[in-house]
Amino acid sequence: MKKTYSVGIIGATGMVGQRFVTLLEKHPLFTPVVLAASARSAGKLYREAVDGKWAMNSPIPAYAREMKVLDAEADAKAIAQQVDFIFCAVNMKKDAIRALEEKYARLEVPVVSNNSAHRATDDVPMVIPEINADHLAVIGAQRARLGTKRGFIAVKSNCSLQSYVPLLHPLRAFGIRCAAVTTYQAISGAGKTFETMPEIVDNVIPYIGGEEQKSEEEPLKIWGHVENGCIVNASGPVITAQCLRVPVSDGHTAAVFVSFEKKPAKEDILTAWANYAGEPQTLHLPSAPEQFIHYFDEDDRPQAKLDRMTEHGMAVCAGRLREDTLFDYKFIGLSHNTLRGAAGGAVLLAELLAAKGFFD
Ligand SMILES: NC(=O)c1ccc[n+]([C@@H]2O[C@H](COP(=O)([O-])OP(=O)(O)OC[C@H]3O[C@@H](n4cnc5c(N)ncnc54)[C@H](OP(=O)(O)O)[C@@H]3O)[C@@H](O)[C@H]2O)c1
Repeated sequence: MKKTYSVGIIGATGMVGQRFVTLLEKHPLFTPVVLAASARSAGKLYREAVDGKWAMNSPIPAYAREMKVLDAEADAKAIAQQVDFIFCAVNMKKDAIRALEEKYARLEVPVVSNNSAHRATDDVPMVIPEINADHLAVIGAQRARLGTKRGFIAVKSNCSLQSYVPLLHPLRAFGIRCAAVTTYQAISGAGKTFETMPEIVDNVIPYIGGEEQKSEEEPLKIWGHVENGCIVNASGPVITAQCLRVPVSDGHTAAVFVSFEKKPAKEDILTAWANYAGEPQTLHLPSAPEQFIHYFDEDDRPQAKLDRMTEHGMAVCAGRLREDTLFDYKFIGLSHNTLRGAAGGAVLLAELLAAKGFFD
């Protein structure tokens, strides 16, 4: 493992890209050396390219302000020569994203992606580092398919999942039969602010394109197993999901109902959550929360506004665990969608990849 890695941020001017730019300002391992976006932004200084659309609470980091934005497509070869790996978060058609990510992988650049284009590809690991770090084992087979030595693609899952899959995961030991989930998703998940999405004020929008399918299907890949260089999806548990857009800036909330083969006691669930830790905790990765799951005893917590920044926005919050009339239990989950759910989750995945030597 090297001491520090040179990093490119592809989609640096977008909502997730801005998070990367901010999160990497003082990162101990990763140094951003390239900021790239579409041809619309290329050639501008970063501060000019994000003028009027900077959506972070803190100012543009000093290191990024005067960097010249490159064209993610036209400048790919030049970018590949400057970086050890890239983060990718772009708003393009799926086919175009797939082609762009494979182009970088074939240029021998590892790609850590926030995009959905490759989430269903069976030799592309889709990783929540605390849950399925073992899926990185398919990278060897993916490199063989792409004909690369270093280059590969690893992705993180959809942001909605982070508010309930980490809470269901430790309960799989009790045999989850089925779960019903309603997510209440922040507008930053659509790359929006209250200024750019005025229609959300005083409103709830009961549809987010493609989100319910992702929320039901992606957990089965996360819970799948590695076989012959591919990830074979789990066959269950069945999850049914409804996804709503709500007037919240950051933080996806989930209302979860769950039934078990063998109903555990409430104390067993609380203990399973309190004790759960994954590789990021044992490896002490820089962005890992010390405690992955935080349970709140108060009846009115977790709240998006109060609790989304728990452990720098990297922890998953839970509350209101109680018995249900139709299912065995119900509870509330919360996670920060652009930190744990997007840029922060990708940085944690990159730290895991670095620790395991995939960037060397
Ligand atoms: N927001 C979230 O919470 C979240 C969570 C998980 C995953 N994601 C995923 O992350 C990706 C980005 O989301 P976002 O919310 O950050 O979107 P966004 O705010 O709309 O930003 C999109 C970025 O893509 C760039 N882009 C657009 N067309 C391009 C092209 N042809 N070539 C290169 N770059 C291009 C834009 O550059 P210009 O500024 O030059 O147009 C911008 O930097 C999406 O795939 C989304 O599904 C988002």
